[in-house]
Amino acid sequence: MLTNLTPQPADKILALMQMFREDPRENKIDLGVGVYKNAEGVTPVMRAVKTAERQLVDSQTTKAYTSLAGDPAFAKAMQSLVFGDTAPTDRLAAVATPGGTGAIRQGLELMRYADKAATIWLSAPTWPNHPSIVRYLGIPMREYRYLAAERPVVDFDGMMADLAQARTGDLVLLHGCCHNPTGANLTQQQWGQVADLLEKTGAVPFVDIAYQGFGDGLEEDAYGPRLLAGRMPEMIVAASCSKNFGVYRERTGLLMALAPDAKTKGEVQATLNFLNRQNYSFPPDHGARVVQMILDDPALRADWQAELEDVRTGMLGLREQLAAELRQRTNSDRFDFIAEHRGMFSRLGISAEKVARLREEHGIYMIGDSRMNIAGLNSATVPILAEAIVAVMNE
Ligand code: LMR
Repeated sequence: MLTNLTPQPADKILALMQMFREDPRENKIDLGVGVYKNAEGVTPVMRAVKTAERQLVDSQTTKAYTSLAGDPAFAKAMQSLVFGDTAPTDRLAAVATPGGTGAIRQGLELMRYADKAATIWLSAPTWPNHPSIVRYLGIPMREYRYLAAERPVVDFDGMMADLAQARTGDLVLLHGCCHNPTGANLTQQQWGQVADLLEKTGAVPFVDIAYQGFGDGLEEDAYGPRLLAGRMPEMIVAASCSKNFGVYRERTGLLMALAPDAKTKGEVQATLNFLNRQNYSFPPDHGARVVQMILDDPALRADWQAELEDVRTGMLGLREQLAAELRQRTNSDRFDFIAEHRGMFSRLGISAEKVARLREEHGIYMIGDSRMNIAGLNSATVPILAEAIVAVMNE
């Protein structure tokens, strides 16, 4: 039996992570996998997370199972983080999941269970694991244009023209904020136009929000999902805590499904519980409980928000510094978009061959499509990167 297995293509983000680990060069720079690093190159455990973990160790009296949907207090706290005080809880079903990827997987499973014929529309480009999971589940998939060809900005006309072809009951995967891999995001006005179009076509938004707080701020980054939740009869949201709480390895996420009415919500909740049971039974609890403790304790929450804000503004500073260094070295505004983008990533817009040369000749690792993780930089490595980019461009 096992001899029948055909090898799957390696995930390019994880393959690059491994290559970086194996590179013996001391001055190598990792701009690959989307993990936040501080100026010392460390991915710290956030202060509030450490405090909450200590409190948890001291106060936890059992490790018996929670419920199939996870701890309800976690779902409630996360619903309010994503949707604000006006979270439509009477229509919102939710299950805790192993990370944001687990939430995406369960959302897709839910979609397939509800309607095998529905198509999911993905932005071109998108996070490579989106199409990979969709294909694995055998869900029909189409792409919509997202990034303009000439400059790394949103091709909004192309996006709207493609999404006008979506049919009632299709799903449209939207990045809630901080688009991965491009860093180019919808404006508030454009979110409104997307909502108008979804209302017209009857397609259902599936929002993946993995970087809330990394773009323009916690509230600002939730603008799109909140707008849609106020207008759409149905919606799916996959929320990740990996990045904004820095709990990557704890696998902490929440899948939310907005039902058209409270009665349907009950049925959706039962289906989500069933899907959790089929796939892994109970979701992991540690990270979820830590996140809930932080969100529900005013002091811990204030400390977490302050640290998250430092992370966000730090990345913005690096974006501005890199854009300025490149402006000066190239004597052009070609890379000014780096300062306009938001989130962890930007795509530089250079060829795969030049990306390979950055890696081989300069020890700088970015994904082959020229996606770089801004948080992999610090003020000392920005000029080194700028110099290397100019070097590979000029030769
Ligand atoms: C990324 O895009 O680098 C992150 O979301 C990590 C991952 O799992 O790919």
